[in-house]
Amino acid sequence: MFRFGVIGYGYWGPNIVRNLRSLEGCQVAGICDQSPAARKRIQSANAEIPVYSDYNDLVSSPDVDAIAVITPVWTHFEVAKAALENGKHVFVEKPFTSSVAQAEQLINLAEQKNLKIMVDHTFLFTGAVRKIRKLLDEGVLGKLYYYDSTRVNLGLFQHDCNVIWDLAPHDLSIMNHLLSADAEAISATGQTHLNGHEDIAFITAYFPEKMIAHINVNWLSPVKVRTTLIGGEKKMLVWNDLEADEKLKIYDRGVDVKNQEGLYNLLVSYRSGDMWSPQVEQVEALRLELSYFRDCICKDEKPFNDGHAGMKVVRMLEAANESVAKRGALVYL
Ligand SMILES: NC(=O)c1ccc[n+]([C@@H]2O[C@H](COP(=O)([O-])OP(=O)(O)OC[C@H]3O[C@@H](n4cnc5c(N)ncnc54)[C@H](O)[C@@H]3O)[C@@H](O)[C@H]2O)c1
Repeated sequence: MFRFGVIGYGYWGPNIVRNLRSLEGCQVAGICDQSPAARKRIQSANAEIPVYSDYNDLVSSPDVDAIAVITPVWTHFEVAKAALENGKHVFVEKPFTSSVAQAEQLINLAEQKNLKIMVDHTFLFTGAVRKIRKLLDEGVLGKLYYYDSTRVNLGLFQHDCNVIWDLAPHDLSIMNHLLSADAEAISATGQTHLNGHEDIAFITAYFPEKMIAHINVNWLSPVKVRTTLIGGEKKMLVWNDLEADEKLKIYDRGVDVKNQEGLYNLLVSYRSGDMWSPQVEQVEALRLELSYFRDCICKDEKPFNDGHAGMKVVRMLEAANESVAKRGALVYL
């Protein structure tokens, strides 16, 4: 039996606890939250599980093998470090840490102690992302031209980070997982309207071979939009994550260039073929991710969403913040 301690029982923590409790071979050995109101909620939903107010007591418990860190971003480093120092594997929320320097420290510590780190990039385990990855691996879209994502809604305003650090980790982790090359540079613009943190931002990432990505994140949108376009030489894909049934649509549309000699002679023909919607597996991504974490530890395998993958996202977030401060100046990675 693999024994987890969960730290942080706010909005996301209960989802981690629920999934761990229903997962074969896993047990929740303790839950910690510093807030008395949260501890009351823990007790009423999980009467038989020990509740802690100080995370140091849970990370040092001999009854725990791994710690899930589900607290706000600025606390990830200190809590995850304490867990690793006490010999526990760590499952930590996105974004991994508040800086690349912190991520490096945690990765080194885990390597020294032969412990696993998994960063919760939940979207990588959704049926949609797993299907897109399969389509790209099979070359269905051909050479990629662009990745263009809109992730906007009204709120939830975070107190400790801007909209880039709140919402863009999803797109950055998805992009890093789907694309074979790493981004070379980032340019971002954004604006603060209400609480001193950017509440709207536009991030552009430049990749090798003319591949370009754009991410639009916004806490001030009147409607919720979760739409990603991926354009390739052979096919184009639209992923609307708010669609219940046909989340993915593949379009046999594009532009073929017949003659490249001189601008005025350029002969383009537009392809407008079929559209189809592939089957997307209905799974609870978090459940799949946590069972993968359990398996990685049991088999001593490195998760693909490990500390290095988490650090890559943090590096891009840092670059985006730096670029916003310079009104969109290009920041090389
Ligand atoms: N993977 C996803 O899709 C997803 C979705 C939502 C949130 N998250 C991430 O989960 C984390 C938590 O987000 P949330 O929305 O649940 O935040 P939240 O503020 O609702 O909850 C955080 C909880 O942690 C507790 N806490 C804070 N510091 C603590 C400490 N030192 N010791 C013990 N408890 C402490 C707080 O009292 C609170 O109950 C964030 O990193 C966020 O980015 C991920």
